[in-house]
Amino acid sequence: MKEQLLTLKNKALDELQKIKDVTDIESFKVAYLGKKGQLTALMKQIGKSPPDIRPEIGRLANTIKATISKAIEEKRSEIIASGAGKKEEIIDITLPGRKPLRGHVHPVNTVIREVCSIFSHMGFNVITGPDVELDYYNFEALNLPKDHPARDMQDTFYVSSNVVLRTHTSPIQVRVMEKTPPPVSIIAPGSVYRRDSDVSHTPMFHQVEGLLVDNDVTFGDLKGILTAFIHQMFGSGTKIRFRPSFFPFTEPSAEVDIQCVMCKGKGCRICSHTGWLEILGSGMVDPEVFRSVDYDTELYSGFAFGMGIERIAMLKYGIDDIQLFFKNDIMFLTQF
Ligand code: PHE
Repeated sequence: MKEQLLTLKNKALDELQKIKDVTDIESFKVAYLGKKGQLTALMKQIGKSPPDIRPEIGRLANTIKATISKAIEEKRSEIIASGAGKKEEIIDITLPGRKPLRGHVHPVNTVIREVCSIFSHMGFNVITGPDVELDYYNFEALNLPKDHPARDMQDTFYVSSNVVLRTHTSPIQVRVMEKTPPPVSIIAPGSVYRRDSDVSHTPMFHQVEGLLVDNDVTFGDLKGILTAFIHQMFGSGTKIRFRPSFFPFTEPSAEVDIQCVMCKGKGCRICSHTGWLEILGSGMVDPEVFRSVDYDTELYSGFAFGMGIERIAMLKYGIDDIQLFFKNDIMFLTQF
């Protein structure tokens, strides 16, 4: 037994000396020390040797195993250091490093930040509200009675009979006014949800809401503030038009159009040959809304507006498919 072990040791060390390649070291290791290796096989026999010499043989076998293992590691380092190993085993410190892929701000967030920054500079406070909203704030307090078509199951994601995923950022207006006496001026960005999906609609998108309430706020103030905003956002030469519209929570209401950014008003596919693009909804806060937050309608008036962020981003960057914002395609996102 002892002889067998010593012979195997010498044979192994001889063989190891002749190895020139790192991959051959691996097969050598398996051949001797692996589960079915030669040394392992011999060690399994130790139990059969006479009890009086068994401990000594055991110790010898362990020493041999350690010696071979150590020799293997030494050989491996020697091959790598000599540069004779396989190419992929060598670290070429002269190679330029690989640049890690760096994340950056999503175009939707860039636009949200820009909108909020413009209004912050005009004195509006940035504020947020919950995505999962009570029916009361999303509809009821905004003068949307129970049978209003906008509450149709087709448009709204219901969590339960009185809880919804907010369909717009307007509930934030109510939450703010409920807690704060006038004057208030807030700008409120956030995600909104509607059951809709095609080239120009996604079930989740973003809006920014604005609200200003004080003594003697007029429609002229609304026009002035929104015109200043649009000129900063799209350039000071941008033509604007206010078009009469309807929202249950504002009276009078207006939709705001800007001259088509693609064709400069000549008429093209993007503006459906009208020369104009709708970018936001607005109006003077309806007295019904003030009543639900206990604001004195004789003393105070105000205006509110809401805009779709993806739509603004599409116009600003010339993107023609809203779905692109939500695909997480690095090739698309790194362009901004
Ligand atoms: N909440 C409206 C919408 O989602 C936009 C709006 C906000 C209109 C505030 C008027 C005043 O379309």
